Amino acid sequence: MKKRILVTGGTGYIGSHTTVELQNAGYDVVIIDNLSNSHEGVLDGIEGITGIRPKFYKGDCTDYKTLEKVFEENPGIEGIINFAASKAVGESIEKPLLYYRNNLVTLINLLDLMPKYGVKGIVFSSSCTVYGEPDVNPIDETAPVKQATSPYGATKQMSEEIITDFVRSGAPIKSILLRYFNPVGAHPTALIGELPNGVPQNLIPYLTQTAAGIREKLTVFGDDYPTPDGSCIRDFIDVVDLAKAHVVAMERMLENKSEEKLEIFNLGTGNGLSVLQLIDAFQRATGVKVNYIIGPRREGDIEKIWADPKKANTVLGWKAQVPIEETMRNAWKWQVSLTEKKEK
Ligand code: UD1
Repeated sequence: MKKRILVTGGTGYIGSHTTVELQNAGYDVVIIDNLSNSHEGVLDGIEGITGIRPKFYKGDCTDYKTLEKVFEENPGIEGIINFAASKAVGESIEKPLLYYRNNLVTLINLLDLMPKYGVKGIVFSSSCTVYGEPDVNPIDETAPVKQATSPYGATKQMSEEIITDFVRSGAPIKSILLRYFNPVGAHPTALIGELPNGVPQNLIPYLTQTAAGIREKLTVFGDDYPTPDGSCIRDFIDVVDLAKAHVVAMERMLENKSEEKLEIFNLGTGNGLSVLQLIDAFQRATGVKVNYIIGPRREGDIEKIWADPKKANTVLGWKAQVPIEETMRNAWKWQVSLTEKKEK
C-alpha cells in the first residue's frame, strides 16, 4: 500500500513541487492549505504533471479541530512535511504576531497530533536564515545559530527548538530539519511555479516580471559589498532539486535508515553566485535582457552565504543537479506561461 503523507502548505511554491515528487515516488499525498498565498488551481498543475490529483483540504493548520479532522478522515498518515508558514521577511517585521501565530501554532498543533495518530516523522522547512551573517563560507550544519534579525527568522529558530525539545522529551516521533538556501526556478513543464502575491520581494520573481515587462526595472540592492563584483552572494537552488530532498528525507525517517531521531541538513548547491552573476546567467540562458539598475543596499541583507551541502550529499545521498542556466530557463518559461494565462 502507498504510504500516506500529509503536506501542509502543499499548494504553495515548494509544497507543490514536493507533492509532485512525492507522488512520482509512489506516496499518497493529502494536502492542507489555507490558500493565503496560493490557490486551488495549483492542484490542476500537480495533476497535469503526475496524473494524480492529491486530496485537498482548504483549511488553516492553526485551527486544531480543522487539523484533527484531516487525521481522522485520512487514517494511517505516516509522515508530515510542514510548509504551512508565512515567509515574507518585511511583512514579519510589520506583523510579528501573525508570524508567531501562523508559524508556531501550526507546528505545535502538528506535533501534538502526531503521537495520537501514530505519525512517525515530520520534515520541517527551515532556512539558512538561522545562521545569520556567517563567519565563514561555505557554511555547514555545525555553524552557530545566530540572533534572528526578523520575526520570520525567529519563527524558524523557535520551530527548530520546539521540535528538538519535543523529540528530546521522548515523544515517539522523528524529525528532519531542512535548512534551505535560496530556492528558485519552476517545474520544467511550467505547470507549477512560484506565484508571488503583489509586488515580489524576492529576486527571481522580480527579475522574471521585469523581463516580462510587468515591472519597469529591477533594482540590484547594493554593489558595494566586499564581494568580487560588489553584489550579495547566495546559493540558488533549483526548486525541483529541493523538492526531491524532501522525498529522500521522508524515506529516511519512515524506513528507519538512521538511528538518529533528529537530524539537520543544509540544502544548497555549494556554489555561491552573486546577484549580478545570476542576472547574467538568466540573460545568457534565455536570451532575454533584464533592465536593471544598481540601487542602495536593502536593510538587513546578508552579505554572502552559501552552503556546504556535504552532509546532505553523503548522509542523505542527495545532490543538487539542475544547472543554474536550466533553472533560469524554467523560471522564464513559468513567467511566460503566467502571462499567457492572464491574456486568455
Ligand atoms: C530572504 C530571507 C530568507 C528567506 C527568503 C524567502 C533574510 C536574510 N533572508 O532571503 O530567510 O527564506 O528571503 O523569502 O532575510 N535582491 C535584489 N533586488 C530585488 C530583490 C532581491 O538585488 O529586487 C537581492 C537581495 O538584496 C539579496 C538577493 O537578491 O542579496 C536575494 O534576495 P531574496 O530573493 O529576497 O532572498 P534573501 O534575502 O536571500
